[in-house]
Amino acid sequence: MRILVTGATGMLGGALVPALLKAGHEVRALSRAKRDDRGNVEWKWGDLVSGNGVREALDGVDAVAHLATGGRRRRGAMDVPGTRTLLLLARAAGVPHVLFTSVVGADRAAYGYLRHKLEAERLVEESGLGWTILRATPFHQWLHRRLRALAALPVLPVDRSLLFQPVHAGEVATRVAALLSAGPAHREIDYGGPQILGGDELVQTWLHASHLHRTLLPVRYPGRLRAAQRAGELTTDAAPKGEITWHDYLMPPAPILSDDFASEHTASPTSPATQPEQDPDLRVYGGDEGYERPTRS
Ligand SMILES: NC(=O)c1ccc[n+]([C@@H]2O[C@H](COP(=O)([O-])OP(=O)(O)OC[C@H]3O[C@@H](n4cnc5c(N)ncnc54)[C@H](OP(=O)(O)O)[C@@H]3O)[C@@H](O)[C@H]2O)c1
Repeated sequence: MRILVTGATGMLGGALVPALLKAGHEVRALSRAKRDDRGNVEWKWGDLVSGNGVREALDGVDAVAHLATGGRRRRGAMDVPGTRTLLLLARAAGVPHVLFTSVVGADRAAYGYLRHKLEAERLVEESGLGWTILRATPFHQWLHRRLRALAALPVLPVDRSLLFQPVHAGEVATRVAALLSAGPAHREIDYGGPQILGGDELVQTWLHASHLHRTLLPVRYPGRLRAAQRAGELTTDAAPKGEITWHDYLMPPAPILSDDFASEHTASPTSPATQPEQDPDLRVYGGDEGYERPTRS
């Protein structure tokens, strides 16, 4: 199949592009940065907000893996309009299948970024196209990035009551590739990591793996999203699950999934992976919607 990947330069896209190539698909990748084709990857310039370049990118594709997101930082500002534009143009182009990536719990805790993800899910479901929605839990790589930035502080705030189910982006990519090969499922599918960890274990394991010592500052984050996370609404017991644990991602017993091939294929000037750590919301590693100043517990 020829598959268009939006968000191809992102954390998940960087793993999905090589996974699709490995499965024998042709890959067309969309980015707001102009890039030369490389190997079997055909790069198309395009912007989902303005719609520029998107029609051309959709021409002749059998499926779209729609991963592009404005992220939590921009609080979903592009996710809904960008998805709307993509779907309109995909329908005009007669694309048989759109797979959209969302977040576990978007239906149960539709606050902040997740509210935008849920709204975009609805657009996909009502598009009249063949569709699949994969809801994933937070990626190892994303949590690692946020903790690394947080550790710049002398004390590390930790909300022990929050529940996390980290999953490896490479395993999510493998699942996305399998779902694309299977065709439209017309349902939402959850995919989470192998373990549910409290905030304390998440942070302590990371500090140990990073050979860092920080004073932990116990906090309790307010807000409806954090309450939902505390209650386990952002986790899933759906099978299959990822197999790589947070511990093994940070301290691999043997090389697991290399990110090198991925970055060779997708790193670009606008890729989130190549951006400096300037996120003002990096104070919270569990997501930032409804972020309010933490209160001491
Ligand atoms: N990160 C997580 O822990 C996590 C967890 C669960 C679900 N997800 C979901 O997985 C998907 C991928 O997340 P990610 O973390 O891999 O994303 P990411 O690293 O933040 O990458 C975002 C991507 O979106 C593209 N993009 C942004 N604005 C665009 C626009 N206007 N037009 C075209 N492309 C645009 C960027 O491409 P260019 O800069 O090259 O244009 C980039 O490749 C998202 O749907 C997200 O909600 C993520």
